[in-house]
Amino acid sequence: MTDHELLAAARVARTHAYAPYSGFFVGAALLCIDGSVVAGCNVENASYGLSMCAERMAAFAAVAGGQRRFTAIAVAGPDGESTPPCGACRQVLAEFGNELRVLYATVDGFEETTIAALLPATFVLP
Ligand code: THU
Repeated sequence: MTDHELLAAARVARTHAYAPYSGFFVGAALLCIDGSVVAGCNVENASYGLSMCAERMAAFAAVAGGQRRFTAIAVAGPDGESTPPCGACRQVLAEFGNELRVLYATVDGFEETTIAALLPATFVLP
């Protein structure tokens, strides 16, 4: 699975986003160590605070499916927008390893980074 293929999977997942309140549609594709890909999209709610980001949807779905080891996540928002994972999603993804590669779409391609770079001094329980 290439980075471009993973980003393409995130764009497909984005088409499933349910975002009637913000109008901001996001898709994520999480690459598991066994080569499988788990998709996520943001799902909003009339009680706004119950809404969930695409990245956490993908992470939680993957764990529910028995996967806990991941190599990369791709995130795609609207064309022309840069969509790095929000702080809450960084913390959730860090739970499963802060060496995770993060690819997020930008205006002219994509940015490649890691959770460790996006979330230094990650909180962990002693
Ligand atoms: N959103 C994501 O899905 N991922 C992010 O990393 C940032 C924000 C969603 C949440 C909400 O449904 C919409 O984008 C606007 O914030």
